[in-house]
Amino acid sequence: MLPKIDFTTTQAYKYLADHFIDINEKSLKELFAEDPQRFHKFSIRLGDILFDYSKNRIDEQTMALLMQLARECQLKDAIEAMFNGEKINETEGREVLHTALRNQSDRPILVDGNDVMPQVREVLARMKDFTDRVISGVWKGFTGRDITDVVNIGIGGSDLGPVMVTEALRAYKTRLNVHFVSNVDGSHIAETLKNLNPETTLFLIASKTFTTQETMANANSAKEWFLETGAEDTEVAKHFAALSTNEKGVADFGIDTANMFGFWDWVGGRYSLWSAIGLSICLSVGYDNFESLLLGAFEADEHFRNTEFEGNIPLIMALLGIWYNNFYDAESHAILPYDQYLHRFAAYFQQGDMESNGKYIDRNGNRVDYQTGPIIWGEPGTNGQHAFYQLIHQGTKMIPCDFIAAAISHNPLGSHQELLLSNFFAQTEALMNGKSEEEVVGELKNAGKSVGEIDELKNFKVFEGNRPTNSILIKKLTPKTLGTLIALYEHKIFVQGVIWNIFSFDQWGVELGKQLANKILPELKGNEEISSHDSSTNALINQYKAWRMG
Ligand code: F6P
Repeated sequence: MLPKIDFTTTQAYKYLADHFIDINEKSLKELFAEDPQRFHKFSIRLGDILFDYSKNRIDEQTMALLMQLARECQLKDAIEAMFNGEKINETEGREVLHTALRNQSDRPILVDGNDVMPQVREVLARMKDFTDRVISGVWKGFTGRDITDVVNIGIGGSDLGPVMVTEALRAYKTRLNVHFVSNVDGSHIAETLKNLNPETTLFLIASKTFTTQETMANANSAKEWFLETGAEDTEVAKHFAALSTNEKGVADFGIDTANMFGFWDWVGGRYSLWSAIGLSICLSVGYDNFESLLLGAFEADEHFRNTEFEGNIPLIMALLGIWYNNFYDAESHAILPYDQYLHRFAAYFQQGDMESNGKYIDRNGNRVDYQTGPIIWGEPGTNGQHAFYQLIHQGTKMIPCDFIAAAISHNPLGSHQELLLSNFFAQTEALMNGKSEEEVVGELKNAGKSVGEIDELKNFKVFEGNRPTNSILIKKLTPKTLGTLIALYEHKIFVQGVIWNIFSFDQWGVELGKQLANKILPELKGNEEISSHDSSTNALINQYKAWRMG
């Protein structure tokens, strides 16, 4: 079980509150000027990943106190509880063992006394076999043609991870075109199917529960589209596979359970890309690359579990987040990959982080009186620079940012990579140093501006700087480095949840909207006026019905 400690009552928290008053006076520029060793002190290499956290508003004492905070919150025990398969997801009575899915060691992992590793390996072997057969063309559609297109139908954790990874690894693409349909808006599936041929299309119905409304609606529409070709029900087996924990649901839907790839309750939806939910990744990039992804994640797991706090990347990422969230009152955290292949990375961790740590009830069942999970957002650089960076540089809010880039491009085209990376390096430097009034005045003078013009303009052109960033520089974006990167972020989320004393692996907050939608659904039929809600909801529903009826 996880400890249930209010972190604001620890000694370390009190020391940090005092320390904050001192360090808040210091600028990043000063901190760098004072200590030529700063980069060496505050950076860590893990394989082909360099994590530089020196441009944060910290000194050695800050880090020592944050480590003390982690110790007082019994983080080491919490880490062991997760890896050892304790039921740390207490509100759902479940273990949290996505790490078992990528366990490359021969250590058994026990759930209720049984080693889960043989089942994990068995499903992986079936995924490999299936992937190889589809890619090689041994697997045929109902008219004997090779599969050319795969459509993954799923939502949330059964969509975002596979989308993000297949996009990130497009450079490794097989001959298959993999598409994703998630939204219950019929336009999503309609637009996707427009250019596809049922004879050469394979559907993966990805749903842990196999009850999710959106996924079931899309799966039914896909089946109808397929059967419209005149194919027999028995031929559905050649075009539909299921990725789920719910064998009965899969069979009831009409998918042959021989085409079902299972996983288990101890895999959380938003941590499931490593499981059978990753089959679309396998088909998109080949099984060997999926295996490398798992290996990369395993290396991050080993690092997280075995490295002392002082050199532990996810732990430090988490503690820095807590520093800004709970002491600097930062409300959000931006993830800014300078890599087009990572264009869905921030969206993926919006679910990963916000569904995990967006909670106001602590592990004792009480309302917290401190801030928990931040708003996660971001877009790739350099696009973001021309959109929202203005606010990061000169807005009134502090936004800690993670800048991520790969040194070696998969597409070494002219000077594109140098242009991209020069922006990556420049932004964190600019956010840290800003631009002083003196510099602005000098520039304006050089540009020939008059004293009056300079006086009018200078305040608008000054940048305070002192804005914190992490830089994550990867040698090359490969399946392995991507696996490591994702797992580092996953463990960061875990550490923050432990310290905020919340349960990170349930998601009760998504239930209310689902319940109400189910209540409203029958009211949308027919044309009678609705009066069972508040005046706003009634009026909106009635206007919708009036317009729909024409
Ligand atoms: O949005 C709630 C949620 O339960 C997510 O946690 C999950 O990833 C998603 O729905 C999809 O669930 P399923 O895989 O069961 O269809």
